[in-house]
Amino acid sequence: MSKQLLLETGVALSLLFNPFSQLAEEPTVGTRKQVDNVAHRGASGYAPENTIAAFDLAVDMKADYIEIDVQRSEDGELVLIHDTTVDRTTDGTGHVGDLSFEELRSLDAGSWFGEEFNGEPIPTFEEILDRYHGKIGVLIELKAPEIYPGIEEQVAEALIERNLDKPQNEKIIIQSFNFESMKKMNELLPRVPIGVLTSNRADTTLKALLEFSTYADWVNPSYGIVTEELVGQVHALGMNVGSWTVRSQEAADFLFEMGVDAIITDYPDYVDPRN
Ligand code: G3P
Ligand code: CA
Repeated sequence: MSKQLLLETGVALSLLFNPFSQLAEEPTVGTRKQVDNVAHRGASGYAPENTIAAFDLAVDMKADYIEIDVQRSEDGELVLIHDTTVDRTTDGTGHVGDLSFEELRSLDAGSWFGEEFNGEPIPTFEEILDRYHGKIGVLIELKAPEIYPGIEEQVAEALIERNLDKPQNEKIIIQSFNFESMKKMNELLPRVPIGVLTSNRADTTLKALLEFSTYADWVNPSYGIVTEELVGQVHALGMNVGSWTVRSQEAADFLFEMGVDAIITDYPDYVDPRN
């Protein structure tokens, strides 16, 4: 784990002047560096996002992780959905946090994508942990945690109950665009890797990266702001880079060239062409 690691030793600063020095020893697949293949909201290019259909397909496609978006119902159930309203991806309307779990569960989260997915329900966080842990990694995004007070504790409790908060369970990562939430998550679950999401270049300055390195293990930028220099600096600070959202082969190839550690994609076959 990288937390608190290099700030104190000063090693980070010397590495920052030679950011590519670590790349030679990284594992490879053929001539390419080994990269984690993360199915974004499941294999969401082929099945409705954040549903079991999309997650099962990610498993079939041999992705390394599924990425999930966690929010909360009005009556406190953790559920998986990307937008803070149900309007785009279900047959209902309204804010996720204003609807009871029963109301959310009765919605059809599949047919907007294709009639073969009619009736796919919104999954719960806990059922997805139970169904997939040990089969595929889970990259857990806390979506807009600022509107769900205490969601960090709830997520931590669900992981602890399942013994998923220990170092041997490496394939759980928690990430968010909300950095304060991730600092809190790191305090609650110090052994679980933490990621910070950004599409803002202001979050990629050396000062920002040094701050992230005090609590995060992953810096996860949108691919439009990824450079080799950024990847080298994040690596020099002992963290990894996971970038999103890949929806073309060109974007995947660009990120391979940049030397990122994980590619977050709607199409796992762009990252692992065996599928
Ligand atoms: O995992 C990265 C990505 O999910 C962040 O953006 O909007 O798709 O949740 P978004
Ligand atoms: Ca997400």
